[in-house]
Amino acid sequence: MDVLGIDIGGSGVKGAIVDVKRGDMLTERYRLPTPQPATPAAVAETVRKVARHHKWDGPIGCTLPARIQRGVAKTAANIDETWINTPVRSLLQEATKCPVAVLNDADAAGVASMEFGAGRGRKDLVIMLTVGTGIGSAMFNRGRLIPGSELGHLTLHGESAERYAADSARKRDGLSWADWAGRFQEYLDHVEFLFAPDLIIVGGGVSRPSKVKSYWHLLSAQSELVPAELENEAGIIGAAVVARKKARKRK
Ligand code: BGC
Repeated sequence: MDVLGIDIGGSGVKGAIVDVKRGDMLTERYRLPTPQPATPAAVAETVRKVARHHKWDGPIGCTLPARIQRGVAKTAANIDETWINTPVRSLLQEATKCPVAVLNDADAAGVASMEFGAGRGRKDLVIMLTVGTGIGSAMFNRGRLIPGSELGHLTLHGESAERYAADSARKRDGLSWADWAGRFQEYLDHVEFLFAPDLIIVGGGVSRPSKVKSYWHLLSAQSELVPAELENEAGIIGAAVVARKKARKRK
């Protein structure tokens, strides 16, 4: 079955039709810039345009960089704060006239990695970390998502870890890859100490092969540590997979 996956990010809203059985995108990604200010109403209108571009009237899976509980956004670290307490699912359902499943962006990327990437078949404790503007996380035990983890907001050096170790911190502080890797290593050590995962998958912008080669050899971990393979398609694919599962349950 095909589902429209949409990834709402800080700079772009991207959508593609996904074959959820194979984890493949059946169309090009259609991208519109995220409106500024990225208020819920403005972003919902952009999501509507992405769905209309694909002439879509079926289920939609949509990510947001926020904790989502029962379809409602509960945090807004790197997005407009008016998202807090916004009923995202009903907002997007009204905008698109389609059934919508909404989930956290990192949870979606993690689902894609568990279904089609490095996490496939893993029954032990898996943590996916998406590293970009912020740090997002997805945790899986016995292959099941423990939704809503926010490991990017663990405290490191007195601040949210993502302010210290995300890719945006590397850019903001003009760090070399080696210096950034040192910070990210501290963060990894902290995550390992607290959760003792068996596998850590690193996704987001820093998982592109062109970037991985600049710093991967500097990292070490007690657990298995691998870069994500699906890169920036993971959110779209994972959101579509979750929307498919929800659509099934409704039947
Ligand atoms: C947000 C998370 C999100 C992550 C990656 C963090 O700042 O709190 O919900 O998953 O950024 O976008």
